Amino acid sequence: MAGIIVVGSQWGDEGKGKVVDVFSAEADFVVRYQGGANAGHTLIVDGKKTVLHLVPSGVLHPNTKCIIAAGVVLDVATLWEEICALKANGLLESPSQLMISDSATVLTTYHRKLDAARENAAGHEKIGTTGKGIGPAYEDRAGRKALLFGDLFQPETLKAKLESALREKNFLLEKFYNVPPIQVDELMREMQRLAKELEPYRCRDTSLMIFKALKSGKKVLFEGAQGTLLDLNHGTYPFVTSSSTLAGSACVGSGIGPGLVSKVVGITKGYTTRVGSGPFPTEINDSVGELMREKGKEFGATTGRPRRCGWLDLVALRYAIRINGITNLALMKIDVLSGFEKIKVCTAYELDGQFLTEFPVTTGDLARCQPIYEELPGWKEEISGVKFMRDLPRQAQSYVDFITNELATPIDVVSVGPGRDQTLWLKPLFK
Ligand code: GDP
Ligand code: IMO
Ligand code: MG
Repeated sequence: MAGIIVVGSQWGDEGKGKVVDVFSAEADFVVRYQGGANAGHTLIVDGKKTVLHLVPSGVLHPNTKCIIAAGVVLDVATLWEEICALKANGLLESPSQLMISDSATVLTTYHRKLDAARENAAGHEKIGTTGKGIGPAYEDRAGRKALLFGDLFQPETLKAKLESALREKNFLLEKFYNVPPIQVDELMREMQRLAKELEPYRCRDTSLMIFKALKSGKKVLFEGAQGTLLDLNHGTYPFVTSSSTLAGSACVGSGIGPGLVSKVVGITKGYTTRVGSGPFPTEINDSVGELMREKGKEFGATTGRPRRCGWLDLVALRYAIRINGITNLALMKIDVLSGFEKIKVCTAYELDGQFLTEFPVTTGDLARCQPIYEELPGWKEEISGVKFMRDLPRQAQSYVDFITNELATPIDVVSVGPGRDQTLWLKPLFK
């Protein structure tokens, strides 16, 4: 079966968008299955940059169909803006290229407002969310009161659900957070406008569509958002997002069984970044970290916030490989490491005098972990123009080999720049 999951193995922003775009040349379908517009996936083709938040990263390939499945929290206003921007650039010309599940959760103004109000009220305790309303939208889903994409096309259901939602949300906004309420009529008009615009993309049952595609031998990519350590259950809770970001979530979020998946590709930066609050054992808080941020252009694709930077953490990566069932890796951004005299790699932690090789399950423990590093020699050469592994400097090849051996997982792709053509293939994707 040709279902391949692409999942972030760190704290997000590993380069999933680039990999999915490159892989999409061979794929029939690309499915987003969780998260929402908190994601920022960057694609660079012939020097032109496209940042996607909700539309799957296969969209630059006109013959690849894009699916937004049930597990996504769909900010319908942002989606419509994204569609308009793509169309203005000559992309997504046919509505049949994008299909949205009737079961996706609609995310709207009150979710965004609540997210912002909570973060403001939290002060130093804040999570540092993207402010895109993700937590409140998933709460509605779990609370069994979410507005679904299919509801947008049933005016009576839509009105009833909006009225009911606003009774509660406006109470919270006004009385608890001291924020102006939202007018139901205004929101109803806005939702009906967006429903009209988005109707051509409506596909009631995307689960069935994906199932049929896989059964008939089509190639399907499942595009993860965020990263392993932001997972709601297995990440650095509470400094996580509100969805499950693991590979298993591809099945749950898109409504297919695990038996239909043949490969899980973990996208891994050659170093580590994190946006928002929470522990980060290998974070570098000096000029080396600043240099990494500058060279790697490590600023959020969604919020523009500077990303915290640090060395590669093999303890965290072994954990990611285990809990996602990662079968293959794509190693990204190693060009950013050119010019560093020494490259450090964390191979274990020290916790309260104990030597640790497994990632701790509690965030409090992780916050007290000290990284134990191995130092590898760096390389001076610029490598962003290199086309084959054999042409990488010896030290860069050793870095890749070291990671492969330590993680006991094959690296299929090495990326040496943001462009599509800056990709070194070690193995074919779909056999
Ligand atoms: P995503 O959220 O995982 O899709 O990653 P982002 O798009 O948020 O961040 C990755 C950033 O690195 C983007 O600006 C990409 O254009 C860029 N990028 C991806 N691969 C490479 C690479 O190999 N080298 C460099 N220098 N940049 C890369
Ligand atoms: P992509 O798909 C990096 C982080 C936020 C914050 C936490 C919770 O581009 O890799 P949320 O808005 O989800 O409630 O924020 O999660 N976060 C991301 N960090 N990349 C992302 O997505 C992220 N999406 C959310 O910074 O720490
Ligand atoms: Mg991103």
